[in-house]
Amino acid sequence: MANLPPANSPNLVLAHPTKEEKRQTWTLTAKNWGNALSLDDYLEREEFLENIPQTQDGGVTHWILTDSTLPPNSRPLLSSCESLRRPTILALPDGTIKSGVTHGIGSVFCPPEYRKMGYATRMLKLLGPALATHQKEIAECPFSVLYSDIGKKYYANLGWKVFPSSHLSLPAIPPTTTNGHNEINGTSSSNSTATPLTQEDFPDLLKQDLDLLTKQVKTTAIATKKPSFAIIPDSETIQWHHLRQTFMLSKLFPTRAAPTINGAISTGAPGSRIWIIFSRVFYGPLTDAAAGNKFYVLRLVVEDERVSDENAEKLAAVLRVAQREAGEWELKSVAVWNVSGVVKELLGKTGMQWEEVEREEDSIASLMWYGEGEGGPAEVEWVANEKFAWC
Ligand SMILES: CC(C)(COP(=O)(O)OP(=O)(O)OC[C@H]1O[C@@H](n2cnc3c(N)ncnc32)[C@H](O)[C@@H]1OP(=O)(O)O)[C@@H](O)C(=O)NCCC(=O)NCCS
Repeated sequence: MANLPPANSPNLVLAHPTKEEKRQTWTLTAKNWGNALSLDDYLEREEFLENIPQTQDGGVTHWILTDSTLPPNSRPLLSSCESLRRPTILALPDGTIKSGVTHGIGSVFCPPEYRKMGYATRMLKLLGPALATHQKEIAECPFSVLYSDIGKKYYANLGWKVFPSSHLSLPAIPPTTTNGHNEINGTSSSNSTATPLTQEDFPDLLKQDLDLLTKQVKTTAIATKKPSFAIIPDSETIQWHHLRQTFMLSKLFPTRAAPTINGAISTGAPGSRIWIIFSRVFYGPLTDAAAGNKFYVLRLVVEDERVSDENAEKLAAVLRVAQREAGEWELKSVAVWNVSGVVKELLGKTGMQWEEVEREEDSIASLMWYGEGEGGPAEVEWVANEKFAWC
């Protein structure tokens, strides 16, 4: 601890860790984020996840705060994080549309012996502006995002504004109960059915989703007279979630084959369907009820956002697939982030059991705006602020 530079020392810089330094950091972060796995499995996961389509070729960047006077592998790792590049679409109030990228910050960490000395703050103060131009040869970056697990104040004080962070929680359907006619679903008279979605279905659906989101972002910008944007759920981003899921399940359920069902779509012609993409997420051991293991709907699309009995049946049908899959994989609940008023009204018509949770501590969607103005929720509109964008 002696000779540690003060957090405001001019010698402290943002740098990229070496392979050895990344391993050193992961060995420490395992206590925070590797609780569902052995240390070896956690290290294997982190290495695996940096070499998949979303992350390879600069899709992920690792950052450290360190002392510039010391050489790599002999310098202190005073704090660390990573940023994941994701595509975006931005519309201005005049209807102009721009494609770009965002960098989602994750795994912000300071080793226990260096905590409360201002190092993470210093790292983030350097990182915020650096991300505005990071990889600018690829595309403009209108904002960076992060999902705080330490409440609403820390990152807000550093310039990442808090955005809506709620979810609907629905109980899983245990494997033994039958679909649609039990105490969890209410007595549904639904005729609607849903078809499970597998990996091959996603590229085409996600292309259609890009068109939908582009229209929605543009309409929102014109209607609200505010810059409006969405992070795009492209194939690589969705695959990132599913490869992570497959890795975790292979360790937690070594005798079971990986699930092939990762979504569900209702009946109906294109333009009238409701569909979801989901993922099983494990933060801690299966036996730990407080670990936060959950079944997440990564993306929910209501192609024709109208409150009708038909849409309510379609929504119930796709959500039931999620509830059943959650039960199959020992998860207690299904979470759907930041749903629209229409979705809540539709759910109200289904008779299904659900509650809305306003998160105060974890996964607080936070955004640093690089354009004009403050870029808080009163000034810009974040369309589809859903779990798929989490990092
Ligand atoms: C969060 C973390 C990166 C902060 O690192 P740090 O270098 O100690 O941070 P700084 O010295 O810049 O700032 C200290 C302040 O951080 C805030 N902070 C730290 N941990 C916090 C927590 N769990 N909840 C809320 N605020 C927290 C406090 O405001 C603290 O000020 P205090 O000393 O008055 O309590 C570090 O505690 C850590 O690695 N924690 C474990 C991993 C983690 O939770 N990361 C955040 C993921 S979003």
